[in-house]
Amino acid sequence: MSKESDVDRVFIFDTTLRDAEQTPGCSLTPREKMEVAQQLARLNVDIIEAGFPVSSNEDFEAVRRIAMEVEGPHICGLARAVNLDIDRAGEALKDAPKTRLHTFIGTSPQHIAMMRKAKGNDDVLKMAVDAVERARSHCDDVEFSPMDAARTERRFLYDVVEATIAAGASTINIPDTVGYAIPEEFGQLIADLMANVPNVDDAIISVHCHDDLGMAVTNTLSAIKYGARQAECTINGLGERAGNASLEEIVMAIRTRGDYFGVKTGIEPKEITHTSRLVSRLMNVAVPPNKAIVGANAFAHSSGIHQDGVLKNRDTFEIMAPEDVGLEQTQIVLTARSGRHALKHRLEILSYDLNEEDLNKAYERFITVADKKKEVFDEDLVAIVSDELTDIPEKFSLDYLHTVSGTGTVPSATIRLKIEGENSQESAWGDGPVDASYRAIKKAAKTEARVEQYAIRAITSGAEALGEVTVRLSDEGHVATGRAVSTDVIEASVKAYLDGLNRLAVQAGIEKQRAEAV
Ligand code: KIV
Ligand code: ZN
Repeated sequence: MSKESDVDRVFIFDTTLRDAEQTPGCSLTPREKMEVAQQLARLNVDIIEAGFPVSSNEDFEAVRRIAMEVEGPHICGLARAVNLDIDRAGEALKDAPKTRLHTFIGTSPQHIAMMRKAKGNDDVLKMAVDAVERARSHCDDVEFSPMDAARTERRFLYDVVEATIAAGASTINIPDTVGYAIPEEFGQLIADLMANVPNVDDAIISVHCHDDLGMAVTNTLSAIKYGARQAECTINGLGERAGNASLEEIVMAIRTRGDYFGVKTGIEPKEITHTSRLVSRLMNVAVPPNKAIVGANAFAHSSGIHQDGVLKNRDTFEIMAPEDVGLEQTQIVLTARSGRHALKHRLEILSYDLNEEDLNKAYERFITVADKKKEVFDEDLVAIVSDELTDIPEKFSLDYLHTVSGTGTVPSATIRLKIEGENSQESAWGDGPVDASYRAIKKAAKTEARVEQYAIRAITSGAEALGEVTVRLSDEGHVATGRAVSTDVIEASVKAYLDGLNRLAVQAGIEKQRAEAV
């Protein structure tokens, strides 16, 4: 990717699959990564950072497959400024049509002090230049990040940026790695780079902000005002600690306040809501109801004055229309009499393109739900499909469940699990039927996995609504979030726990591999 002649264009670099995905409890399976990448392509992001290939064989494969199969955006792989990482990223991107290799090294005093290989600024500068040159031997499009740029000594930052551009980096990303910056100051940093780095016009200046002080989006927008032309961000602002700058907020601020920013992005805003819901569901992180753009209340006008005003003239209280971000009320409701064709058609509208086998699985589950629920809404369909089409290997599955509860009764549960094909049955009592079931599972599965968080929500309204349970489990330093839906909330709770156990088992394997590789 090269600097476009259009100086008003801001490139959107999505790092949901790298920076957000490395958050404990948010890891995705290869199939889920592909699903997110395909949706990011529909959203029309310019670059997808698909992973960190050296970190595990899974990440390597995910970057390789996404780079080969996802059309539209450039696909980027991350690498530390060391040969092993860069070569592995180069290998993952090899033969793919539109790629980028992103390499980084810490440049702040705090980061340099931690390095074993570099004794000071000169060593870091040399490592940065060597890394960019090596990355260029694999890929024409190289991005370099001086990590923790916001706390890097200013003169040194200019030198690193100048040298890495000269070495062949066409994008220089300025990360606020620890979320330390203040908007005015961060914007000024970009202005200073523009004024003090002689070859700055040969590269696109990018920013990558974290939200530790709640200013990631504001810092990004300030940087854009001062000349940055790439924004690194994630869907729903997910990411390590407090998260990254939120894509939807940046994009809609630029779009709604074009008069102020004077720039544009290539994002298809109508895909925003769908992308947000997909990522929330797959990463098992609920979107807060009051979150800008994608929260459930973002377009809900509850006070009488506001409702009246919006009905008379939307401009009174609405600066964006819900339809702008793809939030449309569905008129079509499926029932048990709806055929496979109707389901396929509805799923296509919801951006699911299922093959024959997956459609059959989804249809069977749809009929079971429709028999109990009478009317199946879009939200139900999305929940059913994601529940049914997981590619997590089912080490633990539910074979039999019986619970007893009621006033004046000690709640108890009997559970039979299939564990890699073998039956394991146990009973237990507890504070309620869910607690009793979880105690029985722990005995049957011989696990000490702890429930850190448990949440239940109705997908749609009504007593017969599908219940969705998410359970965050931790075990031996690993964290995983299980999820399941059912019209029976005890069954959903049990299946969510088992989904969590299955994800923990996968993670234990991946973490082991990462430890061996890095
Ligand atoms: O936050 C950060 O500095 C990063 C870099 C790898 C760009 O994620
Ligand atoms: Zn980051």
